[in-house]
Amino acid sequence: MAKLIGVKNINTAVFISGTGSNLKSLLNFFSNKNSKIKIRLILSNNRNAKGLRYAKTFKIKKKIIDYKNQRLAENKILLFLKKNKIDLVCLAGFMRLLSKRFINSFNGKIINIHPSLLPKYKGLNTHERVINNKEKYSGCTVHYVSYKVDSGKIIMQKKVKIQKKDTAKTLSKKILKQEHFLYPKALLKIYANL
Ligand code: GRF
Repeated sequence: MAKLIGVKNINTAVFISGTGSNLKSLLNFFSNKNSKIKIRLILSNNRNAKGLRYAKTFKIKKKIIDYKNQRLAENKILLFLKKNKIDLVCLAGFMRLLSKRFINSFNGKIINIHPSLLPKYKGLNTHERVINNKEKYSGCTVHYVSYKVDSGKIIMQKKVKIQKKDTAKTLSKKILKQEHFLYPKALLKIYANL
């Protein structure tokens, strides 16, 4: 525990493109005044992202970035993150790939949650592929973001048993529920290892 004394707050930005249920769970978990992990802002490439509403509920900043030109968009994001003294970026259903340049500028400080037991089932339509392959287990993974999609160092995983009657939809629901526990836990782990 002594190790933690003197560690400053971790200013965190969460990037979303849609519902933002992971964002909501992070906000709930870290809304405690004494928490060293501070969710400072929500960023989205999609102005209609449902999750943006949590900016109001939790009284934090939101930023919408037009992604027509990726390089310009990323420049804007980097500037915004710097201005807001952001230390850590959490991707939570953010549907844009980040460039090498962006990842380098934020090296080691971008993490993502993916709904499979990585390294299995990287990419999209995870649950459909898992069900089609008649897997017995799936789950979710929090990992560092590297140049290759869903391939960075794993921080934490949670295994979920698949029932015979499960469909992609029911599995996705089950796993999402676990994601909501796993993401905050993974952040605590990062913090404890600082
Ligand atoms: C989650 O399943 C996450 O693992 C994936 O995208 C989904 C986002 O869901 N990367 P939500 O927007 O947090 O509800």
